[in-house]
Amino acid sequence: MNKKLNFATRQIHGEKVDKELISPLASPIYQSSTFTFRNAAHGGALFAGEEDGFIYTRIDNPNSRELAMLIADLENAEKGICFSSGMGAVSAVTWTFLSKGDHLIADKTLYGCSFELFEQGLPRFGIEVDFIDCSQEGNLEKYLRPNTKMVYLESPANPNLKLIDISSLADKAHKYNSEIKVVVDNTFMTPYLQRPIDLGADIVLHSATKYLNGHGDVIAGIVVGDEESIGRIATEGLRYLNGAVLGPFEAWLILRGMKSLNLRMDRHCENAMKVAEFLDKHPRVRKVYYPGLASHPQHALAKKQMENFGAIISFEVDGTKEDGERCHSTPGQHDPQHLQSGGPG
Ligand SMILES: Cc1ncc(COP(=O)(O)O)c(C=O)c1O
Repeated sequence: MNKKLNFATRQIHGEKVDKELISPLASPIYQSSTFTFRNAAHGGALFAGEEDGFIYTRIDNPNSRELAMLIADLENAEKGICFSSGMGAVSAVTWTFLSKGDHLIADKTLYGCSFELFEQGLPRFGIEVDFIDCSQEGNLEKYLRPNTKMVYLESPANPNLKLIDISSLADKAHKYNSEIKVVVDNTFMTPYLQRPIDLGADIVLHSATKYLNGHGDVIAGIVVGDEESIGRIATEGLRYLNGAVLGPFEAWLILRGMKSLNLRMDRHCENAMKVAEFLDKHPRVRKVYYPGLASHPQHALAKKQMENFGAIISFEVDGTKEDGERCHSTPGQHDPQHLQSGGPG
């Protein structure tokens, strides 16, 4: 460093390792809010969108871009974008494409906060919402209207594992109006087990907090779709509507977790099947909701549109509320032995 510069300048601008010397196997963490420009013309070209590059991490960051590119590729989508939570992803998608006077059709079985956003949040801004059972043949057609801009669903749905025939639903929505965005929350499946874009959906989103990260140490969301839609979500939804940007370290952690996605999902599915079969035979369990069981009313659809059945299981206990509470996991007390003997109490 130039010793003629004063101490304070040198402490900030300390000499950097020559980038030409570095070729890491794993991408480094670009923990930087802002990026430098080669010169004013370079900065100008980046701001004008004439040249690709990085300006400011809320707009784009190498780690989140790499993660978005990975998930987009695995989902067979053109492009992706990351968020600081799954709800950041859900709200950015809905706020980007829905305006006052527009109509949203949402399946009635949804993750609780998505449901609340649609039931309480969106109507505050003049958006009309109908919750319907999208798994019922002929139901969607009854609710589609000229101002319908989006159809939103989860399959399997949280928490009752209901399935929706994605290709049939997307086909019907697009036949009515090709501009309607069919949005699928694919959190429970991951792109390893289900690829809604291949089935006709326009936008796929994830709470990457769950299987994509896979290690219980990150909150994140990801959206993938066609280039134009993701461009709009980036410039409107993320940039100024919610600003829910994913941090570089979180993106890096998810990229690391993603390397074992197929192995984790295979094991999850294997384990879930055993647990579901066990519960299904248990005398104190009234009903098991798991698409992998032949008794699931949509087992045939599960085999058609999913590669495997996932690892979320719901079940109803034949007993009192207290019995149900006793099934709640207490370390060391939730193994099948205890359940078989009627639980730890
Ligand atoms: C299906 C589904 N979608 C979205 C979300 C919201 O994601 P996050 O908690 O990352 O905001 C969740 C969270 O549990 C979920 O289960």
